[in-house]
Amino acid sequence: MNPTGSAPSLGFGLGLRTAHYPEIFDGAPRIDWFEAISENYMVPGGRPLHSLMRVRERWPLALHGVSLSIGSTDPLDLAYLDRLKALADRVEPAWISDHLCWTGVAGRNVHDLLPMPYTEEALRHTAARVRQVSEILERPLVLENPSSYVEFKDSTMTEWDFLTRLAEESDCGLLLDVNNVYVSSFNHSFDPKEYVDGIPADRVVQYHLAGHTNKGTHIVDTHSDHAIPEVWDLYGRSCRRTGNVATLYEWDEDIPEFEVLHAEALKAGAFREQAVLAAAR
Ligand SMILES: [Fe+2]
Repeated sequence: MNPTGSAPSLGFGLGLRTAHYPEIFDGAPRIDWFEAISENYMVPGGRPLHSLMRVRERWPLALHGVSLSIGSTDPLDLAYLDRLKALADRVEPAWISDHLCWTGVAGRNVHDLLPMPYTEEALRHTAARVRQVSEILERPLVLENPSSYVEFKDSTMTEWDFLTRLAEESDCGLLLDVNNVYVSSFNHSFDPKEYVDGIPADRVVQYHLAGHTNKGTHIVDTHSDHAIPEVWDLYGRSCRRTGNVATLYEWDEDIPEFEVLHAEALKAGAFREQAVLAAAR
């Protein structure tokens, strides 16, 4: 895959969840691809991996991780990367993604996707690590914009400028989560349209769509609901710039019936078609 514009557009996908295995294996769902959480399958054998390979026989897969901790100042976890590489060699994913974040420091893992300071120093540090990870995995890495609740006073650039420069300097692809853009824009009072307009369109390999929980004073990125109209509008706005890019609906809490989730993926297809047609007029 070349993250600078020729990644395969897989169409509309869903996060692979065991609760939906009956519909996936016994039915013939009209779904284009699945995204699997890498860490759930980084073992040499066993039932989870067997199920994953059954899915892979019928659909393209992307691997999506939560433990890379690309922004941490701890050394990269080479054992983790070896296991991820072994999984990728087996699954042959369309791409491997993780988040622009850090999950711990000094050997301690907090199992949370923590935001980074957006500084020149952090940019150099992260870009070097992305290049190293891509070399180890023998594939370009794709990084997702996080949702966040706090910011660093030391930041000297916006998150979208940081991602833009990171993509250029490390040759990585971007996974644009438009719900995360909306969540962070609410929590930090910036214009989400400016964010999606500022992302380099030819670096966007994948979209995430999801629902969140609005607490009034702040929004929590719960992935527990339907996406709100403002998030759909951001998706349409961004699609007009990026065109056909693989899109995935995430739903991780209070997971509904497969049909409910499936309908979101179909809705994304219709929504994008409209947005792209409108842009062509
Ligand atoms: Fe996401």
